[in-house]
Amino acid sequence: MRLALLGPPGAGKGTQAARICDAFGLLHFSSGDLLRAEKLKKTPEGQKIRDYIDSGRFVPDELMLGIIRNKLASIAKQGFVLDGFPRTLSQATALTEFLAEMNRTLSLVIDLAVDPAVLSRRFEGRRVCPVCLSVYHVDLMPPQREGICDHDGARLVIRPDDMPAVVRTRIDTYRQTVTPLLDYYRQAGLLWKVDASGSVDDVWVQIEARLSQPDMRGSSAA
Ligand code: AP5
Ligand code: MG
Repeated sequence: MRLALLGPPGAGKGTQAARICDAFGLLHFSSGDLLRAEKLKKTPEGQKIRDYIDSGRFVPDELMLGIIRNKLASIAKQGFVLDGFPRTLSQATALTEFLAEMNRTLSLVIDLAVDPAVLSRRFEGRRVCPVCLSVYHVDLMPPQREGICDHDGARLVIRPDDMPAVVRTRIDTYRQTVTPLLDYYRQAGLLWKVDASGSVDDVWVQIEARLSQPDMRGSSAA
């Protein structure tokens, strides 16, 4: 299976991508995590990426596409989940071209549709592990020991771009760019919208059922 997860900031892309990868044995590529790794590098590109991420704006295509292309080229035939990529029509058409060069297509594009009213609570309580990048929520998805990652014992942190002013820019940017992206995948017959306003388990039940259908098993074998 080759999947892309779309949805606004805080929709649960990272949370559901981790579950999909565990259940179906796929590789998880989070564009945000890949960019955050680049931003730590003391290079001109790293500084540029930092400026964009920390202000909540999209990183320019020339940087983003290079990173994704390298990732896809490195994985041969294994299935994957793209989390947060593509975000614009130009990224979607570039992805179609990259995959065509590898004789591949996407199997499904999952749109996590969320009631905007639930998003602020998700941001306010999000905590992430700086080591393994696992995502938690202080009330809705807490770690076993408060403030500590279940997997490696690292102290959990708040993402710098989860500050309210930056969150507003991220959500506005998403709203301004998403319609042509959804239209592109709807016209390609790849778009599947899921109601992602419920609990993590409620959303997961719907996704697991969809990915277990025979048409997905067929694409997994392709
Ligand atoms: P990125 O890291 O991808 O951020 P985002 O898209 O804003 O999405 P988030 O990671 O904030 O949310 P999520 O949907 O993964 O939700 P999560 O599972 O964490 O990108 C960061 C930045 O990088 C961008 O702003 C941009 O600058 C740049 N960038 C990235 N991709 C780019 C691209 N393609 N092009 C250009 N620039 C790009 O869940 C959120 C919280 O809610 C967690 O605490 C979780 O525990 C909780 N939660 C999750 N699901 C549920 C649920 N169902 N019920 C209750 N709580 C839930
Ligand atoms: Mg994420």
